[in-house]
Amino acid sequence: MCRPRGKFITFEGIDGAGKSSHIEPTAAFLRGRGMSVVTTREPGGTPLGEKLRALLLHEAMHLETEALLMFAARREHLARLIEPALERGDWVVCDRFSDATFAYQSGGRGLAREKFLQLERWVHAHLQPDLTLLFDLPPVVAGLRIAVQERGPDRFEQEALDFHERVRLAYRRRAAAAAQRIQLIDANQTREVIENSIQQLITRHCL
Ligand code: TYD
Repeated sequence: MCRPRGKFITFEGIDGAGKSSHIEPTAAFLRGRGMSVVTTREPGGTPLGEKLRALLLHEAMHLETEALLMFAARREHLARLIEPALERGDWVVCDRFSDATFAYQSGGRGLAREKFLQLERWVHAHLQPDLTLLFDLPPVVAGLRIAVQERGPDRFEQEALDFHERVRLAYRRRAAAAAQRIQLIDANQTREVIENSIQQLITRHCL
């Protein structure tokens, strides 16, 4: 019997908001409900996408090159992993998607939002996440978390506080404009409280 199309859930937030550590527990929660789940991330998620990620995180480049490579990696990700998984009936839990480009490359870097609306239409006109969990945290607090990470900061984590303030603001504006799809999570709470909120939101919006 053919399974219904899977759901697409994305995690977003400024660097240091702690979203990535909730990806696997969320997948485990869904598997416990009988779902088949694929976890992935952007930029990345495919062999080519992971090569682009290494460049994006560590190589200096023109701001528009950065923006276009984010969408190039996304095109590959959609074609090779996200769309086939959803078609099979798998659920896809993805660490960042296009909201991150609006927040970082438009909000943070200052590139025109219209350009990204065009790219979004080109690359995934008919697909948006079913649910986006936006981990919200003041950049000052997030910065303290990044400072104690073992690995060195990448190009984005190295940006000044005002860059992260603009990214946060852009995320919050986007959430206000898509209030049903994008749900805010106060990331300044314990892991258990956050995990509980994630499960409640998924149950309410997707199950
Ligand atoms: P991140 O999820 O923070 O990876 P990690 O937690 O392993 O460092 O993502 C890497 C960076 O890529 C992050 O700083 C935000 C940036 N990014 C963009 O600037 N635009 C995008 O469209 C995406 C997907 C990510």
